[in-house]
Formats: sequence, C-alpha cells, structure tokens
Amino acid sequence: RSKIGCVKELAESSDLTTIPSKYYYSSTSTTALNLNQQHGFDEQIPIIDFSLLNSNIPNQRAKVIQDLAKACLDWGFFMVINHGVPESLMERMLGMCTHFFNQTEDDKLQCAEVDVLAPIRFGTSFNPSVDKVFFWRDFLRVRVHPQFHSLPKPAGFSEISLEYTKRTRQVARELLKGISESLGLEECYIDKAMELESCYQVLITNLYPPCPQPELAMGLPPHSDHGLLTLLIQNEIGGLQVNHNGKWVNVHPLPNTYLVNTADHLEILSNGRYKSVLHRALVNDKATRLSLAVTHGPCMDKVVTPVTELVDSANNPALYHGMTYKEYMEALLSNHIHPKSLLDRIR
Ligand code: SIN
Ligand code: FE2
Repeated sequence: RSKIGCVKELAESSDLTTIPSKYYYSSTSTTALNLNQQHGFDEQIPIIDFSLLNSNIPNQRAKVIQDLAKACLDWGFFMVINHGVPESLMERMLGMCTHFFNQTEDDKLQCAEVDVLAPIRFGTSFNPSVDKVFFWRDFLRVRVHPQFHSLPKPAGFSEISLEYTKRTRQVARELLKGISESLGLEECYIDKAMELESCYQVLITNLYPPCPQPELAMGLPPHSDHGLLTLLIQNEIGGLQVNHNGKWVNVHPLPNTYLVNTADHLEILSNGRYKSVLHRALVNDKATRLSLAVTHGPCMDKVVTPVTELVDSANNPALYHGMTYKEYMEALLSNHIHPKSLLDRIR
C-alpha cells in the first residue's frame, strides 16, 4: 500500500491555513498562478442536442453532424443536452461518489494502489512513485468495461456504477457514430474499427476540497485524455478550464448536461483533424468540487492508426504510428503526467 494521505482529511484539519509545500504547483511560492491565468475567459462552449441525432427528419441529423464537426474542429469540447440518461441516475451517481469520499480515510485507503494500472485505484497524486508535486485532489478510478470491477464499499456503489456506465457507453457510441459521419466515414466505421462492443471504459471521480491557498495548488494539471471520448458531469462548483486557442476558458457547470471532449485516440484516428484538447482543474478556498468523468476508449488490443480514408501520402501523410491502446497506456502511465507527451513522441 502506498503511503498517502487524503487531501480531504488534510483540508478538514481545523488549523490548516497554509498548505504543505509538496502541494505547491509552481516550484516556489513566489511563482503562484497569476490572477489573469487563474480567472480564465468566458466563452460559450458549443452545445449539441443529442436527441436530434435520432431524428427521423433527415435534415436534422445532418445539421447535428455539422454541429459536431464544428465543435470537434474548433473546440474538442462540447456540452450535450437531451442525452436520454435520466437526471435522477446522474444525481444518484454523484451522490454515491460523495458517499465514497465521505468514508473513513482507512476505508478509502483500502483502494489505494501504487500500480497506476490497477483496475481499482484510489489516490491523490497522479503517480506517487515518481511525482514530486502533489495535486489538491482525491480520486477514485475504476475500470468498468469490458470487465466490470466492483467496489465493496460504499454499499450500492457498484450497482449504480454498472447501470450508469452502461448508459454513458451508449451515449458515447451514438456520438461516435455522428463523429464518424462528420469525418466523411460510414456511421459505424469507428464503432467497428475500434471494436466498441469491447470499448475500454474507466470511471474516474475527483474530489477537490477547499484549499486555503488556491493560487499555489493545482487540482489537476493540464492534460489531454487518452481514449476516444470522455463524458463528464460535476456538481455546481466550477474550476474546470479548457484550452481554447491558447486561452483557458472556464467551464460553467450546467445541470443535466454532459461535458464531452475528444481524446488522444480520436486525434490519432482522424490523423490530427480532431485534436485532443488540454484541460485542467483549479481549486478554490470556499467549496468542494466533485466531478465524475467516464472515459471511452478503443478495445485495448486494437492497433489504432490513422484511418486510411483520411490519409493521403502526398498531401496528408499519416502523422501517428500505430500501437494498441494498451501499449499506449502502459507507456503513458509509467511516466509523469505530461500534456500530450505521448502523442508528440509517437508522431
Ligand atoms: C478530468 O479531466 O479527468 C477531470 C477534470 C475535472 O475534474 O473536471
Ligand atoms: Fe481529463
């Protein structure tokens, strides 16, 4: 078991007015995140009406596919409304995540794992064996598909996670059908090529307790996601920022809405047309932020290369080498977290 302490319990210790230096994101306290950077910009993230993907009116589906193409090209992030997942299920799932973090430190640390590839891992920093800087976040990461790993505590967590992730998988696959078409490919191209029946799916819940010195710490540093698509929900406390044309744009949480982002393997597959986009989570000194991301990747053993139809050796050569998602993750997770480091390396 790794020797870690939860950030939540640290934040709740009554005399905490300054944070331990291992949580300084900037190497010294004098290079705190400057205010401009921290405040971020407010711009409207594209909104996709999921229900129109199944519209019988052909023009409506065509229109959403255009919207998807634009959102993927311009942002790599979009909000999905009318997704069909019951709001009550989303709320129960977030409630269950809160229960998880409200357990005793001992209970949570039962799931603490040094091995970054363990199927169930509770942690605080990204990789305790190599990291020097710790983030102001506790997280639980559980692999849920093609094999579901169940968590004994809290009671009910596994049942609801199974149900919830089945629903997000359906939404992700439908969105990827639209995205497939938006790339000029057949609707089921990505689904078939990536064997999404066996899609590698992981649930990650993050808790960001109030931090007495939010300008010194980082909840989650800039990174891109590994898979194809990530579907995120969160409580009403902001903090997530997405990088848009070099600026950090604040995400304002909306109820009953998914925040979706395109990830590394969609960038590889689309030969760089749809970029995976950096995002980060800041912390604040007032309220606890809770988020729940479900990542959807290709089947683990599938070699992913740019789609032949999107490559042309003269004008648009393949930008990425092929490798399996498994090889990709082993390479990535055995290293420090680095924004898009692996994509740069395999290029
Ligand atoms: C993530 O990027 O995986 C989650 C960030 C967040 O807490 O919103
Ligand atoms: Fe992420």
